Amino acid sequence: MPKLYIETVGCQMNLLDSELVVASLRKEGYELTSSKAEADTILFNTCSVRQHAEDKIYSALGRLKDAKKKNPEKVIGVMGCMAQKDQKLIFDRAPFVDIVVGPGQLQRIPELIRNARGKNEHQLAVSLGRKEGTRDTIERSHESFDPLRDPTMRPTPFQAYVRIMIGCDKFCTYCIVPSVRGPEQSRPPAHIIAEAKQLAAEGCKEINLLGQTVNSYKVREGDRTWRLSDLLTALHDIEGIDRLKFVTSYPKDMTDDLLAAVRDLPKCAKYLHVPVQSGSDAVLKRMKRGYTVAEYREMLARAYEWIPGVAVTSDFIVGFCGETEEEFQLTMDIVRESRFKNSFIFKYSERPGTKGAELYPDDVPEEVKKRRNNELLALQNEISEEDNHAFLERRVEVLVEGPSKSEERRGHDHDHEGGEGHTLQLTGRTMCDRIVVFDGNPRQIGQTLPITIYDANAHTLFGAVVTEHVGMELFSLGV
Ligand code: 5AD
Ligand code: SF4
Repeated sequence: MPKLYIETVGCQMNLLDSELVVASLRKEGYELTSSKAEADTILFNTCSVRQHAEDKIYSALGRLKDAKKKNPEKVIGVMGCMAQKDQKLIFDRAPFVDIVVGPGQLQRIPELIRNARGKNEHQLAVSLGRKEGTRDTIERSHESFDPLRDPTMRPTPFQAYVRIMIGCDKFCTYCIVPSVRGPEQSRPPAHIIAEAKQLAAEGCKEINLLGQTVNSYKVREGDRTWRLSDLLTALHDIEGIDRLKFVTSYPKDMTDDLLAAVRDLPKCAKYLHVPVQSGSDAVLKRMKRGYTVAEYREMLARAYEWIPGVAVTSDFIVGFCGETEEEFQLTMDIVRESRFKNSFIFKYSERPGTKGAELYPDDVPEEVKKRRNNELLALQNEISEEDNHAFLERRVEVLVEGPSKSEERRGHDHDHEGGEGHTLQLTGRTMCDRIVVFDGNPRQIGQTLPITIYDANAHTLFGAVVTEHVGMELFSLGV
């Protein structure tokens, strides 16, 4: 059997793309290996959102030069956003790379690998750039790659990502995504529903809908318009699916119908990822985010008011072009008041080809970016810990995902050791997406369990499974 080594960096969209590529190569007889030396084919699924991610891939490629010399039959491929962005430049910088394939051309990977091995010629498969044709031809060159896959390809057999849209049309000035992932295109609802039904039939319990701006989803069918709220309502009816989530939301498209759907559909996770990016109107304007801080606050207040117990998370960019100390302090203010469950904080990284790179100098010194990053993170951690402490003594419903990270580090092989009576540390998530760690049994993986929380830090809740007896007591106490 030919062996495939694949390394993935970046967002959930990339994780899904890798899963699907692996699935399509399994069909060709490939099996996975964790050893680059053993592999017949090595693929890197890459990210272009920040420079650092690209640098890491180029140095990983550099380390493969000798491997290729030793075994010219080895096929080395670069897929994903950096492949679309750098194209031939990758062959210039690393001539031993055989394949460069953008995220809109993934269905071609099996064929590209076959060609590369046979002919020893560079194989380039990329989509059209945003100015290289009419909207229609550009859209067609970015194909959504969503073949059906088998359960072994998913993060766990009972959780799956389902893509509902590709691309982005928002053109925030710092962001490379609209140019590498192409125009915003929503998948037809019937395809999404069919995929979800198939997943449910295979035992999948949780579906995470993916889109760059997932709540901008819109499909017109005759005189009916499908929005994300309609899709959630339709998916909610599928038997076997217990939880629905969606990422990432765009603040301006957080409409009332969507908030009402999250509130009213019991299977919908009470969790929203809605990045604000900055707490300063001037910075938001330079970023071309399309909303003011007041508008974001209003949206957030609506979410908190309408959806009891909802957890909201955000992304931030610190040190964006021209960000003053006062502007940064406004970002501290919005974090202080918004009570995000957690925030993903990034130092601005200039991306050639974006409006930001063209219009504004990247003028905040690295040390200042670093300091602001740390300050914001420390504040967010304080808030996360405080809010997690509010869960002490409370009972939550946890969908059990698998062994905890520390359990995995201990190297337990629960396939062999599992069975009645064997305990190990498990991890799962609450309906509001909080991570819960507790002692359990491998056969509880995939179940939804009542857990009482007894400890908490900024990132994790620690709990114990409620036994029926204790459960009754807690119940009668009204906890
Ligand atoms: N520099 C730093 N962070 C960025 N992001 C997007 N582009 C950049 C950039 N050029 C961040 C945003 C986005 C997240 C996925 O990555 O916060 O929400
Ligand atoms: Fe990038 Fe903005 Fe689109 Fe998000 S909404 S992918 S930050 S351009």
